Amino acid sequence: MAENFNKKTIRDVDLKDKLVFLRADYNVPIENGHITSDLRIKQSLPTINYLIENGARVVICSHLGRPKGPEKALSLRPVAERLGQLLDQKVTFCESTIGDEANRLKKELKSGEILLLENVRFYPEEKSNDNKFAKSLAEGIDIFVQDGFGVVHRAHASTEAVPNLIEHKVAGFLLETEVTKILDVMQDPKRPLVALIGGAKISDKIELIDKFIEIADAVLIGGAMANTFLKAQGREIGDSLFEPDMIAEVKKIMDKAQDRVESDKFVFYLPQDGVASQKMDTYTTTRIVDWSAHSVASIDSYPKNPARITNMVRDNESIYDIGPFSGSFMAGVIQMAETVVWNGAMGVTEVNALHSPIGPFAHGTDLVVQAMTGEYGKKPTVIVGGGDTTGYVENRGIIELFDHVSTGGGACLDLMVGKKLPGIEALDKA
Ligand code: ADP
Ligand code: 3PG
Ligand code: MG
Repeated sequence: MAENFNKKTIRDVDLKDKLVFLRADYNVPIENGHITSDLRIKQSLPTINYLIENGARVVICSHLGRPKGPEKALSLRPVAERLGQLLDQKVTFCESTIGDEANRLKKELKSGEILLLENVRFYPEEKSNDNKFAKSLAEGIDIFVQDGFGVVHRAHASTEAVPNLIEHKVAGFLLETEVTKILDVMQDPKRPLVALIGGAKISDKIELIDKFIEIADAVLIGGAMANTFLKAQGREIGDSLFEPDMIAEVKKIMDKAQDRVESDKFVFYLPQDGVASQKMDTYTTTRIVDWSAHSVASIDSYPKNPARITNMVRDNESIYDIGPFSGSFMAGVIQMAETVVWNGAMGVTEVNALHSPIGPFAHGTDLVVQAMTGEYGKKPTVIVGGGDTTGYVENRGIIELFDHVSTGGGACLDLMVGKKLPGIEALDKA
């Protein structure tokens, strides 16, 4: 299984009584001191349990948010409490990340005990990958363990400079699993491979789409990013969110996709209908708009031909979800797949409905989720990536219905497109 992972792991080092620096990604959503998703904390438990069972003294370091300096709302203290509850063990919290107090608490740690340091991004030297700062973080440390998959695409002090200073630097189980599962589907998927890509911004995922146009058997586009494609095709999208700066790029991508459609059995699908509304809230009224029957020429006749208006997105409306035809088509393609990579919601899933578990702009996403999770019979292997997509799957309580739900956002995207990740490069080769 771990062929794709060529770094040493915690299985390869002697941990007994060693002071271990565990870089985790505890960048979790916190509202008024309350953690609203503890997925990243839970996913770090196998590594922590292994470390303590093998007698290590565990110092955990993480960032939280993007602070400019110390910020009470971004303290990791609530994480120490939650981690303690999940492990049923005391987790000592240190109010600083480096310095006398941190060093004293590190020294006092006994085998099997855990210390969580304060948010490493309270120090600007973290982001600037500062070597002096890294030396302070590394003080007294015997072994560096990287298990914060979500942050390995950053070349920061705690992900790059620190391991460079330490003799043994190895991966934890979460990092190993993420890299192995993701690279397995990117490099040797069971085919047909379908990429389902949605979410907010095309600019974040253009490289991912480009990659899948090369390697997948079908690429299905939804979410706000589909609007930029529709705009590039000359369609009217009303007041919908789109990225004007990306139109030229998107045209190139569509040409590339079209070349493959013509030479290969390849599907490139953009929504043919959408859910339009004047407002993005629970109480709004929605309208299905089907633009599939209209050529660009007929769009030119709008609004001269009022009969067509119901099939056009109006100037004061936005598309907030894919429509039922598009959702069904995508569900059908997913049913033909052996492997699906899903990154990004098909619509604005966060808006709640009044009397339904599915919000007004979440039906498209719900349809493709049903197709991916076996509701229509077949259950392909599905890898889910993206911060908000993972949050959606977690909120709906359906994580276990997927084969792998990544804890990484940017890191997952970078790994998928084949970039080198500094936090992984810094580890010992297996
Ligand atoms: P991820 O974090 O999973 O990669 P993104 O950050 O790219 O996903 O996008 C998620 C966001 O995209 C969600 O907040 C969702 O509301 C938004 N979104 C999806 N479709 C639309 C749309 N049609 N209009 C506006 N926002 C959208
Ligand atoms: C994430 O949430 O994607 C990671 O924790 C990385 O955070 P960053 O984008 O602020 O570096
Ligand atoms: Mg996001």
